[in-house]
Amino acid sequence: MKKIKWCIIGAGGIADRRAIPALLCDKQNEIVAVMDKVDAVAKQIAEKYGVEHYYSNAEEMLAAVPCDAVYIATPVFCHYEHAMLALKYNAHVFMEKPLALNYKEGKKIVDAFKSKNKQLIIGYMMGYHNLHCKAHQLVQAGKLGSINTVRLQFSCWYPEIPGAWRQQKSMSGGGCIMDLAVHCMELFYNITGDRIAECKSFFGNKTFSYEVEDSAVITFRSKNGIYGIIDVNFNIPDNCSSAKLEIYGTEGSIYAEGTLGQEEAGRLKYIYSPQGAYEAQQNRSVAKPQLFYGKKGNIYLKQFKAFNKLILSQNRDYTNADRALEIQGICDSIYNGK
Ligand SMILES: NC(=O)c1ccc[n+]([C@@H]2O[C@H](COP(=O)([O-])OP(=O)(O)OC[C@H]3O[C@@H](n4cnc5c(N)ncnc54)[C@H](O)[C@@H]3O)[C@@H](O)[C@H]2O)c1
Repeated sequence: MKKIKWCIIGAGGIADRRAIPALLCDKQNEIVAVMDKVDAVAKQIAEKYGVEHYYSNAEEMLAAVPCDAVYIATPVFCHYEHAMLALKYNAHVFMEKPLALNYKEGKKIVDAFKSKNKQLIIGYMMGYHNLHCKAHQLVQAGKLGSINTVRLQFSCWYPEIPGAWRQQKSMSGGGCIMDLAVHCMELFYNITGDRIAECKSFFGNKTFSYEVEDSAVITFRSKNGIYGIIDVNFNIPDNCSSAKLEIYGTEGSIYAEGTLGQEEAGRLKYIYSPQGAYEAQQNRSVAKPQLFYGKKGNIYLKQFKAFNKLILSQNRDYTNADRALEIQGICDSIYNGK
C-alpha cells in the first residue's frame, strides 16, 4: 500500500481535536511534519502524535520535508496564502471550510489547483454522515416525491472572546453564516443535488457585540424550485441547540435531529405517506415512521479516505471545490444584500 505523506499547517485547533486523530486511524497516512505559527503548539502536537518534524514557518516546512498532501486548518484569512504555498510545493490539499474569505479569493485558489492538476478538497465532512447519506439516497430515489421545502438549523454558544479571529470580519469573512450556514448549504447541495438560486436573509447581532453576525435566517429558492430555510446562531446555548434537517416532499418527509455536527450521531425519521384526496379530518397519526440512527463512525476519516482515493488515482475531481466556491459566492451575495 502506498503511504501518503502529510504535512499539517495550523496544528492546534480542529487539526488536533479531529483531523490528526482521524488521519492516524488510517495506516495509509503518515504525518511527516506539523506546523503552527505558535512554536510551542507545533512542538506539543508533534510530541503528542509522535511526528518527527515540527515548524513555526510553513514554507520552511514544505521546502524541507517532501510530502504528497497538506492538511490546512488555519483561520480563514490564511487559507489563500497556505493553499497557494502548498500548491507551489506541488502538494494536493485538504483544507478546512470555508474555502476562503470571499468568492474572488476562493476562485483564485480553485483555478490555481485546476491549472496544476492538483486535488483540492474542502472539509465539508457532514455529507459523509451515514444519516445524510441515507437522506441523499431517499431523496434521489424519489422516496419523498417532489421536494417542496427544506429546513436546516445549526447553532452553538459563541460568546465574546478577546482577539478571537472568528469574531473579526477581516479574519473570518463573517460570523455564523461563514462558520455554520456554509455547512448547511453544502448539505443541501449534497443531499438534493440541487443548487441555491436566490436568497433573502436577515442577519445581525442580537446578543453579542463582536463585529460579525451572531444570528442569521436565510431563506432561499433553488434552481429546481425548492424553498429552503437555513437558521444559524452563535447565541443559543449548546445544550439548547438541536441541529435539525427537515425535508418535505409530496409523498414523504425526513426529519433528522442531531446529525449536523462533528459526530456521526443523531437520528433520522422518514415517513412515506402519499396522499390521495383532500382529507378534511387531517389525521396525522396513521403514518408509520422509519427510524435510522447515527453509526458513531468518524466522518473526518471518511472524507480523508475519499481524498486519498482521489489523489492516488490520476483523475481529479473538483465537484467539492466548485461547490465550496459557489457557496462562497452565495455568502458574498448575502453579506452584500444582493
Ligand atoms: N470541519 C469542521 O468540523 C471544523 C471545525 C472547526 C473549525 N473548522 C475550520 O478549521 C479552520 C481552523 O479553525 P479552528 O477552530 O481550528 O481555529 P483555532 O484558532 O482553534 O486553531 C487554528 C490553529 O492555527 C494556528 N494558526 C493561526 N494562524 C496561523 C498561521 N498564520 N500559520 C500557521 N498556523 C496558524 C493557531 O495557532 C491554531 O493552532 C477554520 O477554517 C475553521 O472554519 C472546521
